[in-house]
Amino acid sequence: MTTRYADRFQQKTDVSNYDAAEYGAESYSSRIWQLQRPVLEQIVKDFRAAHSGPARLLDFACGTGRVLSALEPLVDATDGVDISENMVAVARGKCPKARLRVGDVLAQPELLAREYDLISCFRFLLNVEPELRGRVLRKLREVLRTPDGLLLVNVHGNARSLRHPAIAWRRWRQRGGQTDVMLNEMSPGAAKRLLAESGFEIVRQFGFGMLPPTLYRTPLRRAAAALDGALAGEHFWNDGAIDLLFVCRPR
Ligand SMILES: C[S@@+](CC[C@H](N)C(=O)[O-])C[C@H]1O[C@@H](n2cnc3c(N)ncnc32)[C@H](O)[C@@H]1O
Repeated sequence: MTTRYADRFQQKTDVSNYDAAEYGAESYSSRIWQLQRPVLEQIVKDFRAAHSGPARLLDFACGTGRVLSALEPLVDATDGVDISENMVAVARGKCPKARLRVGDVLAQPELLAREYDLISCFRFLLNVEPELRGRVLRKLREVLRTPDGLLLVNVHGNARSLRHPAIAWRRWRQRGGQTDVMLNEMSPGAAKRLLAESGFEIVRQFGFGMLPPTLYRTPLRRAAAALDGALAGEHFWNDGAIDLLFVCRPR
């Protein structure tokens, strides 16, 4: 039986694994976050400087507050929404000022009753069921203030990146069994179409992690991290990065 993505982070063990293993000190995800975080912070600071009036941010699928805790000090008010009570319980400890809510935004419209200047949505789109992606994005579009609001959204498994051969190999080995959500991929083209169909215009695109993550489990990991650091950011080769960050405006 396939696990719904909404149930994937409900258990306390999944929650503690997320912070301790997925985002453990030397993990690949932590390395990518070290590159992504300052970029994200700068985008929010630039927005803040150009925007008149207070800035309210929503972190959708906020999880344990990884992104929200980084952005909270940079804006005037923050809300976080997630479907897992146990993930949000951890976020409450990291984001003291945020208003955190638990529930399903598709079934409970009251969870998105405000308007936002900034919406972040990290590590959600790739793994949620394809039929929910557009529905959730359109909900977020409805509560993003026009015309200058920004959606900051990532896809952390680019199908056109050097991660793909290892994923294809693991998929082949698991053929016939349950599909592992960790093996999901999305192409830059599919991500861009999805955002456009959901009412967003991509105004900037960044990329993080060009080299295969398996290199980080070899003696070459320091060299790989240095090269990935040099290649990260807003470049013409972004469509080849493993983690794609899109900055979008409402259309
Ligand atoms: C991989 S975690 C990402 C957490 C956080 N955004 C981050 O980047 O660290 C995915 C999160 O999406 C949440 N999620 C899954 N389905 C959801 C839904 N339908 N509505 C809200 N949150 C959902 C999960 O509970 C989980 O906390």
